[in-house]
Amino acid sequence: QSIYRRKLEMVRGIPLFWSIVEEWAQVESFQARPDDLLISTYPKSGTTWISEIVDMIYKNGDAEKCKQDAIYVRVPFMELIIPGISNGVAKLAEMPSPRLVKTHLPVQLLPDSFWENNCKIIYVARNAKDVAVSYYHFYQMAKIHPEPGTWDEFLEKFVTGEVVFGPWYDHVKGWWEKRKDKRILYLFYEDMKEDPKREIQKVLQFLGKDLKEDVVNKILHHTSFQEMQKNPTANYKMMSKAQMDHSVSPFMRKGIAGDWKNHFTVAQNEAFDSDYKEKMKGSTLQFRTEI
Ligand code: PPS
Repeated sequence: QSIYRRKLEMVRGIPLFWSIVEEWAQVESFQARPDDLLISTYPKSGTTWISEIVDMIYKNGDAEKCKQDAIYVRVPFMELIIPGISNGVAKLAEMPSPRLVKTHLPVQLLPDSFWENNCKIIYVARNAKDVAVSYYHFYQMAKIHPEPGTWDEFLEKFVTGEVVFGPWYDHVKGWWEKRKDKRILYLFYEDMKEDPKREIQKVLQFLGKDLKEDVVNKILHHTSFQEMQKNPTANYKMMSKAQMDHSVSPFMRKGIAGDWKNHFTVAQNEAFDSDYKEKMKGSTLQFRTEI
C-alpha cells in the first residue's frame, strides 16, 4: 500500500497522518531540553517564515550558514513520522543544542517534557480563511494528505475540523489560553505582513537577544517572501516530487493576507462567518481581517 493519500487516524479526537498515530508513543515521550525553542503553529500559518527568521537570529544574520541545509533539517518537524521518509523525534534526539523544534500539535497533545522544561515557545496564528485556502492548495500538492476533493468539500472539512491537526478554532484558542501561564510569544501572520521589523523585534526581546540594525535588516531581506520563494533551502523544492509536487501548487504560493477573497463565494463566506462567531464566542482572541 502506498504511503500517500491515506485516510487519517485519530489521537484523542485529533485527526493525524496514520503513521504518526502508529508511532504516537514515540511522540508522546519526546524529550525536550530546557534550551529548546518550540515553533508552534496550526498548518499554513507562517511556520516556515518564522522558522527562517528565528534560525537567522540564531545564526546572527549569516544567510550563507542558513543556506547550508533545508529548513526542515534546521528546524525538524517533531511529530512527523513517515516510514522511509522522516522521523522528527529521532532526528531531534541526535541534534546538538540549542535546537529549534517545529510542531503543529494542538496544545493538549504537546508532549509533557516541553512544560516540564519550561521551554520557550513562539506561536504564530493566521486568519482562518487564508489558512483554509492555503491548506486546500497544500493538500493538493503534498501527497501525504488525503485527497482534498473540491474547494467546497475541503472547506466543509476545514470547518468541521476533519483535517490534519484538527479544528483551527480550538488550536488557536488553546494556545492563546496557554500563553497566560507559560513562556509563549503569540504572533500573528497579518502583523508580520504589516510590519515584519516590528515583529522581529518582539522575537528578539522574547529571546533576550540584541542584534545590530544592519543584522536585523539582513534578516528582514533574507526572510521576505520574494527571497524565500527563490531560496531552495526555504521553499521546500528540495523535497522529492513524490512528496510535494510544486507544479500542482508551489509551497511558496502567494504569501499574502486576504487571498480568501479570491476563493470564498458570498454564500460560503456568510456561512463561515456565522459558524466562526459561534466557535470563537467568549474568547478574547481577535484576528484582523484587513491589513
Ligand atoms: S506548513 O506546511 O504548515 O509548515 O506551512 P507554513 O509555512 O505554516 O505556511 C505556508 C504559507 O506561508 C506562506 N509564507 C510566507 N508568507 C509571507 N512571507 C514569507 N516569507 C512566507 N514564507 C511562507 C506561504 O506562501 C504559504 O501561504 P500561501 O497563502 O499558501 O501562499
